[in-house]
Amino acid sequence: MDGASLKFGAVTALRGIPNAVSAARAVMERSPHSMLSGEGARLFAKGQGFISRETPTPQNTQVPGGGHDTLGVIAVGQDRNLAVGVSTSGAPGKHPGRVGDSALPGGGLYANPQGAACCSGDGDEILKFCPSFHIVHLISQGRSPQDACIEVVQNIYRQNKHMEIAVIAADIKGQYGACSTVQSWTDPLTQKQYSGFPYVIWSKDLSCPEINVAPTIS
Ligand code: GLY
Repeated sequence: MDGASLKFGAVTALRGIPNAVSAARAVMERSPHSMLSGEGARLFAKGQGFISRETPTPQNTQVPGGGHDTLGVIAVGQDRNLAVGVSTSGAPGKHPGRVGDSALPGGGLYANPQGAACCSGDGDEILKFCPSFHIVHLISQGRSPQDACIEVVQNIYRQNKHMEIAVIAADIKGQYGACSTVQSWTDPLTQKQYSGFPYVIWSKDLSCPEINVAPTIS
């Protein structure tokens, strides 16, 4: 999603196209639509030159160690425009055709000219709260990204104490924030343990990416 123009592109229930987030961007930039799904999304991506591959059945898409494999990125350009993208294989053991929060505007991600936000966690629950829209709405009203993230996760936690959610947000000033209900997290690839949900910051002032841990609501 592009913050300045509110242009949006998504693909859901897509199989066989490894670069799903790029296919989503192609929907935004090269189609008259905002979201394509399933076989229609795959045919569109193939038609745009994306390589199509055989994939395991959805029942075999478990990530090592279980849990989620969602990756969200917010970019603040030098022109202070914001963009946000999210990619996920969804939830372990999901039913074919299941759509979570990640591709939904306002759910898994949102951006407007003032701010951008995205989520990770239990998409079947997250999408009921439109947390990314809520965070960006608060930023538009003058709240800092950090305050907005905490308020939205606190609000969700009050209503559902068992839900896993992590959010990150940024505004056009380059301020950023994060919050989660995750008490600890182990990187399934490196086995490194974090006392909360880790997220990465990289700006022109930093020589390499820096890992921060989001404040936890519990
Ligand atoms: N947040 C990823 C999903 O549940 O689809």
